[in-house]
Amino acid sequence: MRIFAVLSAFAGVASAIRLPPQIRSTGSPHVVNFEVRRALRSNNPLLNGSIANLGFQSYVTNVRVGVRNFTLSLDTGSSDLWVYTSKSPSVVNLTDLSLNLTNGIGSAVGVVAYAPVAIDAYNITNQAILIANQTEEIDGQGVLGLGFDSNSSIYNATGNSSGAVTPLSNIFALNASAANASASNASASNASRTSSNFIGLDLTRAPDGRNSSIGGTFTISSYLSNFSAVANATRIPIMPNATGWQIPVGGVFVNGTAYNVSQDAPDGGNATALIDSGTSYAVVPQTLSNLIYQIIPGAKACPLGDGQVWLVPCLGTSNVTFEFGGEQFPVHPLDMTNVQIYTQNSTRYAACIGVFTSPASVPTLGELPIYILGDSFMRNVYTSFNFGNNTLAGNFSSSGTGPSVQFLSKSNDTNAIYTEFLTQRNQTLSSLNASTIDPNSIDCQSVEPLFNDA
Ligand SMILES: *[C@@H]1O[C@H](CO)[C@@H](O)[C@H](O)[C@H]1NC(C)=O
Ligand SMILES: *[C@@H]1O[C@H](CO)[C@@H](O)[C@H](O)[C@H]1NC(C)=O
Ligand SMILES: *[C@@H]1O[C@H](CO)[C@@H](O)[C@H](O)[C@H]1NC(C)=O
Ligand SMILES: *[C@@H]1O[C@H](CO)[C@@H](O)[C@H](O)[C@H]1NC(C)=O
Ligand SMILES: *[C@@H]1O[C@H](CO)[C@@H](O)[C@H](O)[C@H]1NC(C)=O
Ligand SMILES: *[C@@H]1O[C@H](CO)[C@@H](O)[C@H](O)[C@H]1NC(C)=O
Ligand SMILES: *[C@@H]1O[C@H](CO)[C@@H](O)[C@H](O)[C@H]1NC(C)=O
Ligand SMILES: *[C@@H]1O[C@H](CO)[C@@H](O)[C@H](O)[C@H]1NC(C)=O
Ligand SMILES: *[C@@H]1O[C@H](CO)[C@@H](O)[C@H](O)[C@H]1NC(C)=O
Ligand SMILES: *[C@@H]1O[C@H](CO)[C@@H](O)[C@H](O)[C@H]1NC(C)=O
Ligand SMILES: *[C@@H]1O[C@H](CO)[C@@H](O)[C@H](O)[C@H]1NC(C)=O
Ligand SMILES: *[C@@H]1O[C@H](CO)[C@@H](O)[C@H](O)[C@H]1NC(C)=O
Repeated sequence: MRIFAVLSAFAGVASAIRLPPQIRSTGSPHVVNFEVRRALRSNNPLLNGSIANLGFQSYVTNVRVGVRNFTLSLDTGSSDLWVYTSKSPSVVNLTDLSLNLTNGIGSAVGVVAYAPVAIDAYNITNQAILIANQTEEIDGQGVLGLGFDSNSSIYNATGNSSGAVTPLSNIFALNASAANASASNASASNASRTSSNFIGLDLTRAPDGRNSSIGGTFTISSYLSNFSAVANATRIPIMPNATGWQIPVGGVFVNGTAYNVSQDAPDGGNATALIDSGTSYAVVPQTLSNLIYQIIPGAKACPLGDGQVWLVPCLGTSNVTFEFGGEQFPVHPLDMTNVQIYTQNSTRYAACIGVFTSPASVPTLGELPIYILGDSFMRNVYTSFNFGNNTLAGNFSSSGTGPSVQFLSKSNDTNAIYTEFLTQRNQTLSSLNASTIDPNSIDCQSVEPLFNDA
């Protein structure tokens, strides 16, 4: 799911440096570890009159389709690989299946095709993809969905053809066949297949979202070495029958005080959160959003859509911690607000907006899990997304290992992150050549939805 604009890739941001992939190929599974870049976009202001805003980020990587390279957004909230191109790449076999992929915000329309696809060192000879020639409210060159086959529109459109599974499913199958080749018996290969069906995602933070070429690391069937302890972290099983990386929320603490999460749970169930790298920010219930920002002295709520967003003094923050699987995961104060340049009466001001915002303030957002923890949360953890054996088409299993998520906190020193916030935010503000503005001096009429063309 891409809420805050499919802040996907941008064709224009091509200055990134890509380190050579490091490939450890000592036996199976084949291990890949490659850099992810961060892209920034400069439009879609929240404040009317903004000439720039900082921190609208997405995390992108290179994927080769046919003979062309595309810069694709890494999206754990969807399951399809699609590219936007007006002319079909050669060596691609188009089908006559047309498809309209939609999300909360926009759509990508095109035809299903089969193409050789390379994701770092993995070559998939025959990958089902969508070649989109028309998009609405979605920019960039496309998306690499990192969810399950069962949530793939392409897989579904082909009548669940085993030849039309997701790239990750194909890669895990490549690993499995490599494991099969070296395993002496079937149970060993089954075990190694399930145990290698995971990806690791490390999204990094640039000071207040300023551009930086290195955005993190994406690994397939391996962990980034400094986070290998994630292997021992509590496994948080996804919700029964969830179509994506949706997990129960154990708790939320605002400045140490527990928020009552059970009010967000459907009768007797659990409040759930979608862990979504394709959403730049975070969507939480309005009550929680209010609780988070109203304690910041000088904060001001502005109505937006059917909800409200918070304007906060740029050096104000709120200490927010999420609990999953009995462990606490604090959010860095730099991830709680977004600095924007706001121009009023020809004067440049730096203004800050709370980015844990409610679904009601996001136009067009339909039925969704009530918490969507996007990049604003994900930068605070190293995440292992474990597919279990619930991924290869035709191999859905009621027994065996189901999908789960494991987190390792990167922000657990709350005093250190607060100090870092003050230092970095002050640096950002002084570098902007803009005056500070009291939120109460900003006219709420200036606040507009992120995804409204009007
Ligand atoms: C695509 O990217 C790969 C790896 O970075 C590079 O070796 C190759 O030359 C690129 N191909 C094109 C057509 O740009
Ligand atoms: C794709 O679906 C969306 C959402 O239903 C719709 O707004 C859009 O017009 C559709 N695009 C095409 C080309 O049919
Ligand atoms: C495209 O179709 C041709 C002819 O059937 C086939 O040889 C080739 O493998 C196909 N390529 C892909 C990527 O599916
Ligand atoms: C993947 O394909 C590329 C281009 O055809 C080739 O150079 C490379 O050796 C292949 N990699 C693997 C691991 O097979
Ligand atoms: C996209 O491709 C379809 C099928 O080839 C074609 O009918 C349509 O006009 C194209 N749309 C755009 C915007 O190019
Ligand atoms: C799956 O495909 C069928 C038609 O084959 C369609 O009716 C249904 O809406 C699709 N479901 C999803 C989730 O895309
Ligand atoms: C996981 O825990 C086991 C047992 O405590 C320990 O031996 C192992 O080194 C740990 N692995 C990692 C990657 O931390
Ligand atoms: C999950 O789906 C199965 C089959 O559709 C159904 O029997 C079961 O009740 C569902 N479980 C939950 C917790 O919704
Ligand atoms: C889910 O809800 C049940 C019932 O309210 C509760 O016992 C359980 O602890 C919750 N699980 C989590 C992970 O919060
Ligand atoms: C947050 O908690 C600290 C320590 O308990 C307290 O001193 C401070 O006043 C609280 N801040 C707010 C805004 O409630
Ligand atoms: C957040 O925590 C830091 C360090 O523990 C503390 O100094 C600061 O006052 C807290 N912020 C709020 C808004 O309570
Ligand atoms: C900006 O100009 C308007 C009139 O255009 C005036 O009412 C307002 O007070 C001015 N605001 C500031 C902060 O100077």
